[in-house]
Formats: sequence, structure tokens, C-alpha cells
Amino acid sequence: MKLYSIPVLALLSAVLFTGTAQSQTIKSSLNPKYDSKVDSILRLMTLDEKVGQMNQYNGFWEVTGPVPKEGDAAIKYEQLRKGLVGSMLNVNGVENVRAVQKIAVEETRLGIPLIIGYDVVHGYKTISPIPLAEAASWDLEAIRKSAEVAAAEAAAAGINWTFAPMVDISRDARWGRVMEGAGEDPYLGSKIAYARVKGFQGDDLKDVNTIAATAKHFAGYGFSESGRDYNTVDVGTSTLYNDILPPFEATVEADVKTFMNSFNLLNGIPATGNSFLQREILKGKWAFKGFIVSDWGSIGEMIPHGFAKDGKQAAELAANAGSDMDMESRLYVEHLTALVNEGKVKESVIDDAVRRILTVKYELGLFDDPYRYCDENRERTETGKPAFQDAVLDMAKKSVVLLKNEKQLLPLKKSGMKIALIGQLAADKDSPLGSWRALGAPNSAVSVVEGMKAYQGNSLEYVEGVKLTEGTPGFAFETKINITDRSGFEAAKTAARNADVVVMVLGEHGFQSGEGRSRAELDLPGLQQELLEEVYKVNPNIVLVLMNGRPLVIDWAVANIPSIVVGWHLGTQSGNALAQVLYGDYNPSGKLPMSFPKNVGQIPVYYNHKSTGRPANPGSDLVFWSHYIDSPNEPMYPFGYGLSYTSFEYSNLKLNSESFAKDGSVTVTIDLKNTGSLTGKETVQLYIRDLYASVARPVRELKDFQQVELKAGESKTLSFQITEKSIGFYDNEGKWIVEPGDFKVFVGGSSKATFEAGFSFQ
Ligand code: NOJ
Repeated sequence: MKLYSIPVLALLSAVLFTGTAQSQTIKSSLNPKYDSKVDSILRLMTLDEKVGQMNQYNGFWEVTGPVPKEGDAAIKYEQLRKGLVGSMLNVNGVENVRAVQKIAVEETRLGIPLIIGYDVVHGYKTISPIPLAEAASWDLEAIRKSAEVAAAEAAAAGINWTFAPMVDISRDARWGRVMEGAGEDPYLGSKIAYARVKGFQGDDLKDVNTIAATAKHFAGYGFSESGRDYNTVDVGTSTLYNDILPPFEATVEADVKTFMNSFNLLNGIPATGNSFLQREILKGKWAFKGFIVSDWGSIGEMIPHGFAKDGKQAAELAANAGSDMDMESRLYVEHLTALVNEGKVKESVIDDAVRRILTVKYELGLFDDPYRYCDENRERTETGKPAFQDAVLDMAKKSVVLLKNEKQLLPLKKSGMKIALIGQLAADKDSPLGSWRALGAPNSAVSVVEGMKAYQGNSLEYVEGVKLTEGTPGFAFETKINITDRSGFEAAKTAARNADVVVMVLGEHGFQSGEGRSRAELDLPGLQQELLEEVYKVNPNIVLVLMNGRPLVIDWAVANIPSIVVGWHLGTQSGNALAQVLYGDYNPSGKLPMSFPKNVGQIPVYYNHKSTGRPANPGSDLVFWSHYIDSPNEPMYPFGYGLSYTSFEYSNLKLNSESFAKDGSVTVTIDLKNTGSLTGKETVQLYIRDLYASVARPVRELKDFQQVELKAGESKTLSFQITEKSIGFYDNEGKWIVEPGDFKVFVGGSSKATFEAGFSFQ
């Protein structure tokens, strides 16, 4: 019996009217439209087939995690034929997807279609900026659009499920995966998480341009100790409830279809075997209706974590804790049937997982047509189409952050200048694609050299200067860079000496951030810093363009280099975006989503920290206050910071009332004027401090923001509402509370906003 090919009603009547036992397990509705259909299928399934739905295998072509056994494709094919596989990941392109789907649909007993997952993190083939860069835009509509483009291109190539967005808050730039997230702030992170889910999933999951999204990694992964990937996480309840969980909850509000758990221990319990997280919070308190996939092999990793004694116990613990699908540890398919027969896992647990998985397959329309994402023609016409290029270019420009522009070197004049362009990354067509670039073809990005060549009024000389990497980086890429060859320095200095302005593109290779790429130092890797200092000696008129997957330590550059631009890894259109920004055809508007530390020793350094009992006291000559004797407490650049080629002036902060009560609000207004000579966009940020509370609150918390574009000389009064939502927080039991008390509000262009006023809540 092939379920997809039978009209659903016929199938239903076949099942419902044969008096088959009512589903044993079903308690709550997942989707009223499909509940009864799903239950009908469930009744037809053997226990092995149910467990099969909970099994996800990697495809045969690409890996994104450690491979347990090489050459086991034959076993996988055999299990696929037996209906023991519910999903595959890393199967790309219509031809390959069709091939595996055909087996699931035509050769298994019930013909249940596979759901096909892939890490479409920031684009499929047309690559948009890394998510951290996109977050720097603070432009929720552009971010939603970028996810929409990624979904449409991936869906046309057979993919119907992405393992994105990653919504892990992180305060540690050493962690290579900060590039995948939205930075350090839970408020901005929640807004972006919501926008990304909406972008991927759209309003109708059955639309051929949309795919199911995954909120990952649930939970705490961004707090890996010492920024080392996969490391232990120990966080207090206040941080868990107020900082880590809110972006995840926002994705549930956006109706995200799946969650992925994480590799880390959270306070001693692996996230994968954590029923507090998965059952109590996610499926309980938040009433999440989708399913949870494990991270790659994370069920098996509970053994080295010292939590499960063997694979069988790991499967038992994970299933009972609420992990619905096993990504590549193969332990469900090996052990779950026996575990049910032995009474260690209830069949109702299996049924609940399978219902969730089948419901998402229904919602995607896979039961109407399992090949709905498999149209070679669409794949050809959609991939890389001009509208997608335009969208990622737009996103890339909005992601750039201007940190410094002291001698007004920027924007560059468009004619009559000699420009020296220096750095391997300037000509690099690969690094801008960043990590997690899905199927972005190697070397397919527009380089900065190419982007700048489009401006022909100046003379442009490119010199590499020094190598950053050698060979072809990939997953096995050795990130320790031992370049000792300085032979390119002289050519770089000669070019700089002859130039009016030197543009140096320095930073990280695209594979120096991302999964498994934690760094202990955050400087410019290799000999780049040395090259920068050498070039500076012959021509200090330098514009430093960073290409980076994370905040870097650039203390010398900040002290010496007049203009600094954060260019991240901006994707396929990187060079065009950067050239347009450098030449002023786009006025930079990005604001940092993560603090740039002064040095690694400050980390974690983040704006929304708590106050110590001995806060900063720089006037004192005694040492007994919370500080370092060899470094300031403040980061180099704070969260929310970013300049424009024009300037903005804030004035006239007003509150319509100094207090409010339940169900009321305070209106905050502030005037913003563009005092420069160019049109520009400012992101006006509102922060709140709760001065005393039953659980101490951070020194500032972002609670609202607005983006405004103003012409030169133009002014606007902006207005914000402060409500209970702006001042409440989670107590240490995870209960949302709003307490009476005194508060401060700050408004301005960064987390250092200086306009402030006080109000109270009664
Ligand atoms: C491991 C990563 O942690 C996760 O984010 C990713 O989705 C899976 N591998 C699949 O590639």
C-alpha cells in the first residue's frame, strides 16, 4: 500500500471504518487538519516502521559530522528499502533527492515519503552574508527576505527542511559558531530568530518556495566553556531563562516546525537527554507541535559525556527525554524496538514522536506529492537567478559596519586617485562565502578586487602582500597557520608608497570560523598584523576592511588606522557590496550585534552584564573594585555600535509620565537629526535598567529599536512605548514576573546611549 498515491479520504475511510483500534497514544492535537490522517497511518505501521521514521541518515555524498563507518551505503540503502529511514540529510539536487525519495515511496511497504534536510544556513547556492553579519543590519525585513531567498533556491533543488536558524546567544567570540547566530543579545536575537523562521517557512509550508525551519541548538550551546566547541555548559537559571531561551521561544511563536538539540552538557545533563528542556519547557510550557531532531550523533555522544553507559541506554534516555529523530548515531534504529518490547520506552513515546514527524511531512505537502520539490526545470531556472543576486547584494550592503572614519578617507573619491589594494582576502573569491555555505560553489563570490574594478575613475593596483592560507581549505582544514614568507611585503609597501589611499583587506579565511573552528587568539591570523604595521610606516592613509566570521581583537589598528570597516563574510556579492560601501554608493548603516573585545582576557565581554557589588571606580587609587590591572573593563567597540558617512545628533529625550501601572505604558520620545551632508540610516536603540529587583537585572537591556533614514539636515521625533513587557523578566523558576520599582531608560545609537531618564512602575 503506497500512502501517497491513495487519495487521503479513501485511505481514511479504509482505516477508520475497519474498526481498527483507535490510536493508543494520541493526547493532544498537533494540527487539526492532519491529526486523523496521521493517526490513520500510525495504525498501519509496525513498531519497526515507526522507529524507522525516527531515523535520519546522512546521504552518500557529503558529510557535516564525524562518519561512524565508511562504506556503509549498502546498509543504508537496505534499511531505506525496509522503511527504516524517515529522513535524510546532505542529499542535494533534484536528481539525488528524487533517487532516494523514489526508494522510500515506491519500494517501502507503506511508501511514506522522506523529509530531506540540509544546512541551508545563509543561502543554498546564492550565498547571503553569514548570519552574524546579517544581524548587524538590524533590518528584520531584509533578514526575512534573505531566508526566503535561501528557502526558494533550496526548495527548487529538492530540499524541504533546513537546519537553521541557529538562535544560540553567545558572548564568546572564540567560539567559531558565533558566525551562525545573531550575536549576544536576546532581544535582537529573538526578533531575528522570528524573522528567519518566517523567511524560511513563509505563510504556507506547502508553497514550493518554502521549507521547514529548525531552531537550534536547544539549548545553551553558545555558552560552551572557554569558547571551545562542543564543550561543557554551566549556566545559572537566570541566564538560561532570560538570555538563552527567549530566542527559542520566539521561534515557537513563529510556528517553527522543528528543533535541534545540542551537543553540550547543560548543567551536567546532555541537551539530547534533557527532558527538562525538551519535555517540560519546549513540548510542555511552550506547547511546541513540531519534532525535535538530535544533532549529528549527539545521542551516541551521551556515552563519552559520561551520561549513558552504552548505545542502548543512550537511545532510551534520548527518546524518553523527547528527542524525536536520531541524526546519524543510528542508535534508535538499532535499539528502540527492543527498548519498547522490554518496557523501557513506552510505545506512546514512539507514537508521539512519529505523529510529530508525519504531521510535518503532511504540512510540507509530501503526502500530496512526494516529488513536489523535485522539478529539474525549476532547479535550472531558479538557481542563482538575478532576483536572488539582488537580494543577497542588498543584504550584504546592509550588513557592513563602519567602526572608524577619522580622516574622512571614506567614502573614496571616485576619480583621480591612486588606490593600492592589499591582502590575500581582497582577491579571494572563496572566503566571502564563509562557513556553512551549503552548495555555494568554491570561488564563486565576487572579490573585492572585482568589485572595486567596476569603479574605473581611479587607478587601482592590487598586491597580495602575504598569504593567509595555502592549499584548499575544507572540513579537514588545519587552522593553525604557519606562514613565514614575508617576500610579498616589499611589493605591498611599494604599492602603498605610490598610492593616495591604501585599502587593506585583512581578517579570517571563510573556514577559520564555523563549527569546530574555535580560536584562542582573536588577532589577524598569520603575518597580516605585521604586514599592516609595515605598510602603515610608508603610508598611514589606510582603510582597513576586515573580513571576519566573528569579532576580532584589533587594538593596534584602532589606535593607528584612520578608517575601519567590518566586512564579515558577505556571501556571493561580497565584493560588489564592499565596493559600493567604500565608494559611498551605499552609506553604511550596520551596528555590531556582538561586542568587539579589547583583548581575549576580557571574554566574555558583553553589554548586558550584571553589576558587581564593586562597580567601576576609576577615580580611586585603591585596587579593590571589579577591574583588571592590565586592561580596561570596556570592550573595544560595544554592542549596537556603528557609524555612518553622515552624522546624527540626538536631543530632547522626553517621557510623557514618570510612572505607570498595570496595563499602562510610558511614551518615550527623542529627536534625531541628520547633521551631516549625506542621506543616512540610523538604528535608534532603547535600553532599560531595572535598578533593583528580586533577581538582579543587567546594567542595560535592549528593549526596542527603530531604523530611520534621514536626508542631510532632516530631523524626526521618534516615539517608543514602555510597557510591562519591557520591564518584566523571568525569575529563577522560569516564571515571568513584573515587579514594581524604579527604572532607567537610555536612548541612542549604541548600547552606550547617553540620553537617559527615570521612571517607575507601581
Ligand atoms: C552538526 C551541527 O552542529 C548542526 O548545526 C548541523 O545542522 C548538523 N551537524 C548537520 O550538518
